[in-house]
Amino acid sequence: MTTPTARQEAGAHLRPRAHFTPTGTWMNDPNGLVLHEGTYHLFFQTNPLGLEWGNMSWGHATSPDLLTWTEQDIALRFTQEEAIFSGSVVVDHDNTSGLGEDGRAPLVALYTSHYLEASPRHGTQAQSVAWSTDSGRTWQTHPGNPVLDRGSSDFRDPKVFWHEGRGAWIMVAVEAMDHQVVIYASPDLLTWEHLSTFGPVGSTAGAWECPDLFRLPVRGEPGAEAWVLVVSVGDGGPAGGSGTMYVVGDFDGTTFTAREGETGQWLDVGPDHYAAVSFDNTGERRVMIGWASNWAYAVRTPTPTWRSSMSLARDVHLARSRDGQLRLHQRPVLPEADDVLQRRFTTPAGTTRTATVTTEAGQDPLVIRVDTVGGRLRLDRSRCGDASFDPRFVPVVEAALPEHGVDVDVLVVVDGCVVEVYALDGELALTAQVFPAAALTRVTVTEVAPAV
Ligand code: FRU
Repeated sequence: MTTPTARQEAGAHLRPRAHFTPTGTWMNDPNGLVLHEGTYHLFFQTNPLGLEWGNMSWGHATSPDLLTWTEQDIALRFTQEEAIFSGSVVVDHDNTSGLGEDGRAPLVALYTSHYLEASPRHGTQAQSVAWSTDSGRTWQTHPGNPVLDRGSSDFRDPKVFWHEGRGAWIMVAVEAMDHQVVIYASPDLLTWEHLSTFGPVGSTAGAWECPDLFRLPVRGEPGAEAWVLVVSVGDGGPAGGSGTMYVVGDFDGTTFTAREGETGQWLDVGPDHYAAVSFDNTGERRVMIGWASNWAYAVRTPTPTWRSSMSLARDVHLARSRDGQLRLHQRPVLPEADDVLQRRFTTPAGTTRTATVTTEAGQDPLVIRVDTVGGRLRLDRSRCGDASFDPRFVPVVEAALPEHGVDVDVLVVVDGCVVEVYALDGELALTAQVFPAAALTRVTVTEVAPAV
């Protein structure tokens, strides 16, 4: 494997600047997102040996600002016996695990051991622990692994957080094929007790994967709060293929209960946003990152020297929408406008506007249309470079605008092969990959005349 410099690299214009990409390998889910001593850590599912899924291991990148990422050495590497599937990292401030050293709080990773043929556990998935006492640089796997095994073939993706009320660690994981989130508690991250099971609800068209659970205040309603359960669904997503769903509810330290009328919402209505989870240890902020691709075609995306990007980091909050339901709003952490193409515009109520994004030469148009009359937002990537590498790469994506009869504020961010569109203060987010022949550098916003 070579790591070409940006100058030599084929397709260099497709490589995003502020969205993390692995230097020269395959990537899927973000794992172990954690803020530790002023540094953001992003671990990620990677194949250290290639551009396709396999040999699953945890790659590692760090950033001071969620925009500039530096790739680090592989954190957890596959062995003959086990692949390292998705999971999370917590800062064990009180050293409940006893894994700290010299008074330093350890970083503790909970990840899925996916056992391979060489293992006596072959055919099962169970949860394991690794820890680091040097700020995530090197990791040791726990001799007691796996620490949580239910003899299941599809028990994976542990996301762990500290629950003040219970005074315990909580883990959400999935029984992927049963479309269930299983909830466990632990005093020390090493011994786990089953508390409850949630689901199915909402979409069950594909396996349930990569859950997350967190509490948020409701903006504009002092004292009000709710819990958000996030679940990724492997198929049947908003634009076909995989997608990320969320359910608003309550969590009493034991059981998650959906609020009345909550049947699951798409976190992002685009085709390319999956396995989104949030950072540990960010205080009052709740920041999420997703994988900016889709299992339907991820292995065939035409980037020659690496494969897949993450989304921008997004601050999320809850607000009540006009129909009375609580909805997540997402605000991206934005790069400097000089680094990455971005454009804000408003489409006044009763009008339709399009933003056309092209190369410097006016080619490879990507067209985003905001129709406040029909209440639709549409992204057409059919003429924006290579759109035919896979039949499941949908050329046109359309979504309902969540609010009607109002002016619609829109933000478009284009960074290499990733486009993110936000509308209505991020109540709607839409992420899509594009593969133009040259960099997209120009945006033209025009008003579409009403039909007479
Ligand atoms: C989600 C997923 C996870 C699993 C990982 C394997 O994209 O299928 O459920 O842990 O990818 O790479």
